[in-house]
Amino acid sequence: MSAGKSFWEMDELRLTVGAMVILGGATGILVLMPYLLLKKVPPPEGLKPYTTQQLAGRQQYIANGCVYCHSQQPRDIKLAPDFKRGWGRATVSGDYAYDTPHLLGTMRTGPDLMNIGARQPSKDWQLGHLYQPRAYTPGSIMPAYPFLFEARQGVAKEGETVVNLPPAFAKSGQVVIAKQEALDLVEYLISLDRTYPALPPLPENVVKAAEPSKEKP
Ligand code: HEC
Repeated sequence: MSAGKSFWEMDELRLTVGAMVILGGATGILVLMPYLLLKKVPPPEGLKPYTTQQLAGRQQYIANGCVYCHSQQPRDIKLAPDFKRGWGRATVSGDYAYDTPHLLGTMRTGPDLMNIGARQPSKDWQLGHLYQPRAYTPGSIMPAYPFLFEARQGVAKEGETVVNLPPAFAKSGQVVIAKQEALDLVEYLISLDRTYPALPPLPENVVKAAEPSKEKP
């Protein structure tokens, strides 16, 4: 700092202070404000914490890249016809209280899965669909996950979960056994059910329109 210069003549200092002010402002708006707004959001009454098995299934969901094709964020009635597709009401922040990291997803190559547990609660269907999506949805472009299963000749041993494939896809003499990974993943999928009332409550007309239907979209 050379003597005789005022504050506003010192370029490096101005630059540094200016950069800090901008950075501080951006951090405040993008990090601090959302944190303060959302840190007190309580989990809704209808939402239960994941069990150990559901959490293991959640890891399978991440590891197998399901999030690249499936979102977990049904949108508001004003933004997208998600409720008409049977995907459920628009989610609110509390719905994600136990989701770390969240799996919102950015692509919808397949349907939104935030309420798949309410829409398709059949474990048999979920297991079979993971083993061979085309057996349940003709022409499906979802990849099959045969490595989560063991297909072999003979019969199942005690305690093993047999996948009941539609007759056209079942090979005679072969049993398909769900591995632990598949069982965990399905347990997680079935737990995805945010059909309880949102907090704060959504307007009446939105709730009615967003009632998830059992039909496939
Ligand atoms: C390449 C994109 C892609 C990936 C990756 C993918 N899916 Fe899908 N998924 C789809 C498409 C497309 C459909 C709709 C056709 C069908 O039902 O098979 C679908 C359908 C589904 C459905 C039925 C949804 C409904 O509303 O009936 C479930 C459940 C599902 N996927 C779970 C998964 C899981 C779990 C994984 C990861 C192991 C996964 N998907 C990975 C594309 C994908």
